[in-house]
Amino acid sequence: MQEDFQKLKQTAERDFRKVQTLEELEALKVKFLGRNSFLAQFSKKIPLLEPSLRPQAGRLLNEAKSFITALWQERKKELNLQQDKIDLSFPSYSLRRAKLHPLTLVIREICSIFERIGFEIQEGREIEDEWHNFTALNIPLEHPSRDAFDTFYLNIPSKRYKYLLRSHTSPSQIRLMRKRKPPLAFVVPGRVYRPDNMDASHSFMFHQIEGFAVDKDINFSHLKGVLAYFVQNLFSSEVKLRFRPHFFPFTEPSAEVDISCFICKGKGCSVCKKSGWLEILGCGMIHPEVLSSCGISPKKYQGFAFGMGVERITMLKYRINDIRLFFENDLRFLEQFYEV
Ligand code: PHE
Repeated sequence: MQEDFQKLKQTAERDFRKVQTLEELEALKVKFLGRNSFLAQFSKKIPLLEPSLRPQAGRLLNEAKSFITALWQERKKELNLQQDKIDLSFPSYSLRRAKLHPLTLVIREICSIFERIGFEIQEGREIEDEWHNFTALNIPLEHPSRDAFDTFYLNIPSKRYKYLLRSHTSPSQIRLMRKRKPPLAFVVPGRVYRPDNMDASHSFMFHQIEGFAVDKDINFSHLKGVLAYFVQNLFSSEVKLRFRPHFFPFTEPSAEVDISCFICKGKGCSVCKKSGWLEILGCGMIHPEVLSSCGISPKKYQGFAFGMGVERITMLKYRINDIRLFFENDLRFLEQFYEV
């Protein structure tokens, strides 16, 4: 009797393991535990047994029943789980996709516009010396921008140079003009530093993009053409440009460039402060002194240069009203920007 039960349990175990669908499983359950199963038949026969054998028979019967019931339950759980794996109607959870910082997006976009018309992208250095940041750019010794209130000087001992954090990207003009021979056309994005107090429109670190070209017979109309192409690609083809005379020591003549307000189309709104125009960059023809200090003869060559603030342009483009938002790393802000 004991052996019969042992065999039954072995067969049940093997059969339940083989089963692959819930229907097959239910059929097996009927086979082993149903009305016509060996166990059901056996339980009917117990009263016919000799009284001394009945307790053992009852124990074996119950033990086999619970053993097989457990097999059935276990397999049922497994098969249900397998079904869940391919339940295509199960609601998915959304993946959080990484995004680029709005300043990175705008820097990339601006660089790619200039790349399309032949400018090469280069990066300068953030630690500069006084000669590259000021002297070679024709910025006189007594110029206020050299003051420690306007420039971060570094405590790096050197007999030759005073080191500093560059206060604009223009020193990269000098490095590239000294390293390469004309014709030159470069765009240089990067961080710059000025000891300003933080407020809605100032930050002690921000980004600029410098651009310049040097060749024979370059004149102001080339500068105008390049900048018009640039702003019309960045903002809209309807944007107009306005050049206002200005002064920079490293360009002559110099200008500040405004674009017609693309928000109110020049009618006057709160962003352009009712003027219809937005100032976006400084530019001019590279000063002959600057070309000379780079070993380029101003008699043979001319060039133009321009420099813009990336934060300001990004704020205009995306209507952001506080520069500090760029540097606080608040995901609720950062998640709103993506490439289109
Ligand atoms: N370096 C200037 C600034 O930081 C911008 C500029 C660059 C102006 C090149 C003219 C030419 O304000």
